[in-house]
Amino acid sequence: MNRRKFIQLATTLLSSSASIQSNAIGASDCVETIYAGDAAKARSISFDERSLIIDGKRCLLISGEMHYPRSTRDMWPQLLDRSKALGVNCISTYVFWNVHEPERDRYDFTGGRDLAHFLQLCQERELLAFLRVGPYCCAEWNFGGFPSYLRDEPNIELRTMNNPYLDRVEKYFDRLAEEIRPYLAPNGGPVAMIQVENEYANVAKRYGEAGQEYLRWIVNLAERVGFKIIPTTTCEGGASGSIETLNGNDIPPERAAGFRLKHPKEPMIWSELYPGWYDTWGHPRHTGRDGRELATCILEFLAEGGAGWNYYMWHGGTNFGRDSMYLQTTSYDFTAPLDEYGRCTPKGEYLGQLHKKLVEHRLILLEGNRTSENVTMNFQKTTWTRGFQRLELLVNRGKEPQTDASGCSVSPGGACLRSGDGDYIFHTDQIDATKGPAHDATKWNDISPPLMWSAWHEPLPPQRDRASIVRSSEPIEQLKLTKDKTDYCWYSTTINTWKGEELLAIPYGGDFLYVYVDGELVSQSVAPLLENRGFIVPSGSNQPMVVADQNESSKTDGYRHQFNLSGMKPGRHRLEILATAIGMVKGDWQITAPMNMERKGIWNGVLLDGDSLNTEWFNIPFLYGEKIHIATGPERQKWLKVPEIAKPLTWYRATFNLSDNELAHDSDYRIDAAGLWKGSLFVNGHAIGRYWLIGARDSEADPTQSHYHVPSVWLKRTNVLIVFEENAVIPSKVRFQRRLFSA
Ligand code: GAL
Repeated sequence: MNRRKFIQLATTLLSSSASIQSNAIGASDCVETIYAGDAAKARSISFDERSLIIDGKRCLLISGEMHYPRSTRDMWPQLLDRSKALGVNCISTYVFWNVHEPERDRYDFTGGRDLAHFLQLCQERELLAFLRVGPYCCAEWNFGGFPSYLRDEPNIELRTMNNPYLDRVEKYFDRLAEEIRPYLAPNGGPVAMIQVENEYANVAKRYGEAGQEYLRWIVNLAERVGFKIIPTTTCEGGASGSIETLNGNDIPPERAAGFRLKHPKEPMIWSELYPGWYDTWGHPRHTGRDGRELATCILEFLAEGGAGWNYYMWHGGTNFGRDSMYLQTTSYDFTAPLDEYGRCTPKGEYLGQLHKKLVEHRLILLEGNRTSENVTMNFQKTTWTRGFQRLELLVNRGKEPQTDASGCSVSPGGACLRSGDGDYIFHTDQIDATKGPAHDATKWNDISPPLMWSAWHEPLPPQRDRASIVRSSEPIEQLKLTKDKTDYCWYSTTINTWKGEELLAIPYGGDFLYVYVDGELVSQSVAPLLENRGFIVPSGSNQPMVVADQNESSKTDGYRHQFNLSGMKPGRHRLEILATAIGMVKGDWQITAPMNMERKGIWNGVLLDGDSLNTEWFNIPFLYGEKIHIATGPERQKWLKVPEIAKPLTWYRATFNLSDNELAHDSDYRIDAAGLWKGSLFVNGHAIGRYWLIGARDSEADPTQSHYHVPSVWLKRTNVLIVFEENAVIPSKVRFQRRLFSA
């Protein structure tokens, strides 16, 4: 029996019993009822057009997305406990391929990568799991989740029918399935749905029929590796054999109607509902949406027949180390209901109240007869009836307050859910969306005394050993040299000038470049950088120039960097360019090309006053400090006194102590990176992430990100903080900070 038939049969068998059984469910939480105290029991998962059906019971899916590598393993239990307490009944996560296959054929499912443990924790808490296994994920994650080694597979094309790609995916899925299979719901685990691929619609135009074939292939592969016993989903760009889910800020009635027409037999699931958004360096910080706005959208979705939703993100967390995509900040707070540190926000509290009410009324919402009418324009009433039960929802999408015949008034953008008797079940106007949990006012304090720093200067190219140097007649594209194991690559040559002034142009360079002449930093790229920079290859190259999506830019100078070199004495000079990568792209649209064409460093020559600089180039991947593991390994170099006048490219080191008492407290920790410019942070050998204190483009406002999360599990009595700073600044204003919570 094929899988669709299996699910259909299960659906027919179960839906007849669903409403009978559901009478017995009463008003308790859907998941508790499903689990009924036996978390490890095998469960059947099926669906019909109204909802997911678990062991014959309808489930209103209230899912919260959190990516386990965006927090530490020790944070997982608390994150899940807090989610459960706020009425979330499912945890959704991407499974990033590059987390689990960090090197070709080396798989890692241990420690912070222990997916099975994460699923076990979900199960213990009677939370369902929705796994989004890619292989492509997106998610503002480095290379959208793909291992960077894929770029080097001969003749590979990602996300389309192409043997070098399919072979690698198949091998990975076989291995991944070993981890996941025991945790599928019919095998006694929490996993109720599996998504393959992600928003294929964004790239479909580029890959044409081969792309559609690939989508079908990946749905099939999921079946082959044993996932067919639960529903497979695809979001925004579906393939037969899977439930197509929807993503967006809201799901307006026209979209819902379109979905119903296209998928008459599938439940309408909102796989990405955005409580906020991600931030990119140098652009204004997003402030997010409040609980009230989200609640109205959710209620409207239910009025259109929605069967469940997933907050993207429920807990955003942190992009530690070099995990961020290009330009994404280290924080992935997302203004999510649980903040970056995992604490509940006012939004979380507000939504928690909504969840409780919706779960109580889930059966009428999922099984009742539903009709909608316009009370007045933009003021809509939806009624559900089930036997003698009745529910009414009023939603005001207008600009003026509205009142219905019974006297229920709803302010603009609000909604009121009430029982047949007119009692309010949830009225968006009656709950203060700004009011937060008690801890919300907890203040951050500096850990005293101030940090005492020592310094170590990164050597410039002439001091680097010959073995690190790759010679060429033109700069070599950085990822070819680094395989994305570092952000840094030097390009060094000599130039001759007679005027003492030259225009240095790099038509194709990424991401942020510093220019040194005779060992002095003289210029740097202009920020902010754009997230979608246009064609990554010059026109006329073999690559067809296709703009496949509205997000793609058709810019042709998006990677151009220009520097005025002045004040040089006529004659010969050393020219050194330090290229710094800020993460690999997350998708084709950021480079208007297939994403494996991603490039860093310099890839199409350098011009000096319009002439190609075809001299001898020394390409030097990696910093010397990285090679000797200065921030992560045992100490091998001598730290010096911090100079009065700051020099660029300096490693700084400070230690600080925490008492046992302090360590035992429930606290959050962060670094206030005030006064720094751009670089990376490390604590006790753990890579905290990139930092960049660049402000938003249109204002003198604060930097996009000033504070950097340090997980408390990485701290001990004596702690070593290491900063690698690219520019000439001294870390005198940097502070280590803590917020303490009472027991
Ligand atoms: C979606 C994508 C997610 C994430 C989100 C923005 O389009 O599916 O992975 O990138 O946008 O945060």
